[in-house]
Amino acid sequence: MLIGSSKKFRRADFASVVISEIMTVHSSARTDIAVPYDDSAGDTLIALNDIDLVYDLDGPQPFPALEAIDLNLNQGDFICAIGPSGCGKTSLLRVLAGYERPTHGVVSVDGRPHTKPDSEVGVVFQQPNLFPWLTIEKNVNFGPRMKGIDAHERRQRVSYFLEMVSLIDAAKKLPHQLSGGMKQRAAIARALAADPKVILMDEPFGALDAFTRESMQMSLHEIWTKTGKTIFFITHDVEEALLLSNRIILMYPNPGRIVEDIANPFSAMLSDTAPSDLRVSRDFIEMREYLVRRIKESGEY
Ligand SMILES: Nc1ncnc2c1ncn2[C@@H]1O[C@H](COP(=O)(O)OP(=O)(O)OP(=O)(O)O)[C@@H](O)[C@H]1O
Ligand SMILES: [Mg+2]
Repeated sequence: MLIGSSKKFRRADFASVVISEIMTVHSSARTDIAVPYDDSAGDTLIALNDIDLVYDLDGPQPFPALEAIDLNLNQGDFICAIGPSGCGKTSLLRVLAGYERPTHGVVSVDGRPHTKPDSEVGVVFQQPNLFPWLTIEKNVNFGPRMKGIDAHERRQRVSYFLEMVSLIDAAKKLPHQLSGGMKQRAAIARALAADPKVILMDEPFGALDAFTRESMQMSLHEIWTKTGKTIFFITHDVEEALLLSNRIILMYPNPGRIVEDIANPFSAMLSDTAPSDLRVSRDFIEMREYLVRRIKESGEY
């Protein structure tokens, strides 16, 4: 409440109210904020059992990048991986993609061992790796064509996904004629059109400006709710993880390991609450502060 008669006085009071609000957020930091994710509630799509990854295993300087990773990705999970630089996020994605063979442990997709890249696992990188010589629609058509889907269904799929990422008007353009955000949307459409069981994304919005990034986050969230795809998404940005996922894993380095696997308490609100409203809510700020603090505690931030 504002008290005092002069304008100067009121300003001072207002400032003290704001400061005490901020102090309350910090001093009342709850310890029960991170609720572990219950992976037994869903159907397991990808299972990682006791995964170790040692780079240069037989070389002069073997490097343990991942140790004892146990993780079940459930059908329809949007899981965000966060953690300090070098904690093994990309290494974990590369194991999930089948680009790296783990030194120990087993990866299975839909109950079958997954040992090499295949069309059931789509990958979207920070820099969209579209084929530069193919138009956007031909890029999106590529996966379905490789899968041997007939021409009629391919045409339908391509326009469905181009529509979904608002790129139907750019269908005949070449990648270099698109903006960064449009290219990234095309890369997402290409990954979706191949209809993989899971899509892995390594900081896909990391190179975009803040406005494009926010609109990409909103469209990816909408795509996820429409398609129910399973998504594994790496980000440096705690806020991005809270605005996209239903589940967040936190990794620590040396060796890379999972130290938290928590349910995103805002997941159910993401479809009908504007990010700008969520960001200023006290619960959101507390959760963000908690995760940032946990990343800092790794000693590598
Ligand atoms: N091919 C490789 N050979 C040897 N060491 C590697 C190799 N790739 C990654 N590393 C090391 O493994 C560790 C984990 O790397 P990784 O790229 O998985 O981290 P990250 O969490 O994705 O980091 P960032 O947030 O910076 O992208 C790092 O210490 C890195 O130097
Ligand atoms: Mg990385």
